[in-house]
Amino acid sequence: MKQFILYASKAVTSPDFSLDDLPGSGGRMDLVARCICNALWISHDLRRDSCIHVVACGSPNPPVVISFYGNRLRGVSPDERNIAAWIKKALAMKRKNPGISIRKLSFQQLVEELASDGNFFYILHEKCRDISEEKLKVDSVFVLGDHMGLPKKEEKFVERFKHDKISLGTTSYLASQCIIVLHYELDKK
Ligand SMILES: C[S@@+](CC[C@H](N)C(=O)[O-])C[C@H]1O[C@@H](n2cnc3c(N)ncnc32)[C@H](O)[C@@H]1O
Repeated sequence: MKQFILYASKAVTSPDFSLDDLPGSGGRMDLVARCICNALWISHDLRRDSCIHVVACGSPNPPVVISFYGNRLRGVSPDERNIAAWIKKALAMKRKNPGISIRKLSFQQLVEELASDGNFFYILHEKCRDISEEKLKVDSVFVLGDHMGLPKKEEKFVERFKHDKISLGTTSYLASQCIIVLHYELDKK
């Protein structure tokens, strides 16, 4: 299973955000939805070997881990609004989707859990060894920051476990773009 962790410093942790204003609702839920789309959707299908964990650290009740699983998702379409609508439903505990889970968990608790399952971590970082020099382990956990980056404290925490740091080059990409590039590289393996 390819797993992505997005550290979303402002992502809202209550269902009280507007679907008509995903960027402006303060939580950058547009960014979150785009990352989920790029992690799980391909043309006319889902990536059933992939999942994404969004660590939502925004108000009013952080942290919350919102996970989307490609192999279990039902009735979600790849547009940002629909993905955000499902996040809203999940946060409201209203309508269950077998492919979406909401847990009251911190970034560090999530990393510990995935490490105890034997996972290897790749921290995505602009200034380190280029991905082309790395023999990628496909079924790994890829850790990304949002528009504000991954906090140093959290990066240091991941470094306690089996990990490597990889760069996609010197261009600073959006987190959602990094996910596409990673999938492209992994698809070639
Ligand atoms: C928009 S960038 C964050 C920029 C932020 N100002 C910073 O200094 O970290 C979002 C995330 O994408 C990943 N990223 C962006 N460009 C990358 C690159 N060239 N190589 C590896 N990871 C990259 C990193 O994980 C980063 O935290």
